[in-house]
Amino acid sequence: MTRSTMRATTVRVAYPDLVGFTTAVFTGHGMPGPRAADAAGALCHGDLTGTRSHGLANLTRLYLPLFAESRVDPRAELEVLRDLGACVVLDAHRALGLWAAGAAMDLAVYRARMHGVGLVSVRNATHIGCAGYHAARAVEHGLVGLIASNCGGQRIARPPGGRLPMLGTNPLSVAVPVPAGPPFVLDMSTTVVPTGRVREAARAGREVPLGWLTDEAGFPVTDPTRFDQGEAHLRWLGGTPENGEYKGFGLGLMVEVLSALLSGAAFGPDRDALLGDGRPAGRDDDIGLFLLAISPELLRPGGGFARDAGVLFGTLADCPSTKDGQPVRYPGWPEAERAELYRRQGVPLSAELYDELRAVAERTGVAAPEAVA
Ligand SMILES: NC(=O)c1ccc[n+]([C@@H]2O[C@H](COP(=O)([O-])OP(=O)(O)OC[C@H]3O[C@@H](n4cnc5c(N)ncnc54)[C@H](O)[C@@H]3O)[C@@H](O)[C@H]2O)c1
Repeated sequence: MTRSTMRATTVRVAYPDLVGFTTAVFTGHGMPGPRAADAAGALCHGDLTGTRSHGLANLTRLYLPLFAESRVDPRAELEVLRDLGACVVLDAHRALGLWAAGAAMDLAVYRARMHGVGLVSVRNATHIGCAGYHAARAVEHGLVGLIASNCGGQRIARPPGGRLPMLGTNPLSVAVPVPAGPPFVLDMSTTVVPTGRVREAARAGREVPLGWLTDEAGFPVTDPTRFDQGEAHLRWLGGTPENGEYKGFGLGLMVEVLSALLSGAAFGPDRDALLGDGRPAGRDDDIGLFLLAISPELLRPGGGFARDAGVLFGTLADCPSTKDGQPVRYPGWPEAERAELYRRQGVPLSAELYDELRAVAERTGVAAPEAVA
């Protein structure tokens, strides 16, 4: 291949352009402007932080199909079903989860400022993208944030020892402000990885590490394409029972209880689950969310939370490293570092994803995001 015909495998786009493009796509699908901008921020957060499994790769695979199939209502208002002051239950009426989760966290923050804690429980939501983006909204106000989301009626992961999938990949995130450092943002699926990471590897033609997938007989699978062929199954965090699989499974169940049983949303293991053929099944509609904001200032007698958080996280980051010389980092740090770099240099997108976005632009009459030289 000559130099002139060689194609870059990565294209960089200025972050504001990427958000502007995504906002325009969402407004083109009927979302009011400010709401679309919020949702675009949540979706672009994936690419901005290097969490590509939950970035714009999901625009054509997940979100636009939700609009096309009327499984999302772009203008739905969040309805208050119960208001106990510190606790509120909302019906999201199929509003786009990328926006609704942030709006629910803002409400939790507002209540936490009055009561010390704000708990918002949501039913009938749709896909929220990166859980950490929404948890970190609380940090912007100096509060601790927590979010858990189930996957509605979608069944992907099998209980340990089980032959049928029962639960989703059930993400969980906790975010904490850290003075003089990036916030602590634990943001994770409760399965060993989310399905997006398996599909990302399949698209890139890469094998996945041992421990992500297993075949019907329990042997490890490294070919990610076998997942969507129904020949490989996603493991819970921990992988095997000896390595803590029941802890991952237990966390997944905890998310299901907090997000779906408390709110009255759909959940995976209903009786239909027992009629399955072993492949992932069910739809990620009527998702349940659990959002908690905690005000350390109101809660802790005598104050000192921020000072101690600085000591806790600062000391961890100063821990001498092992021989490979990699500095010790806590969750949230790598994403914050990437976000800072990509805001300066442009957000890297694979050439395939960039082409996909240009095709969306052409189809929807929106200006395509310009590649940075
Ligand atoms: N909406 C949904 O239904 C859904 C389902 C599953 C996952 N997700 C999202 O998928 C995304 C990816 O999840 P994941 O489980 O692949 O996350 P991950 O394995 O990439 O990261 C998990 C956590 O480990 C931390 N971490 C990773 N490497 C680190 C390092 N070198 N130093 C310090 N900390 C490090 C990260 O900061 C993060 O908090 C998350 O945003 C999650 O919310 C969403």
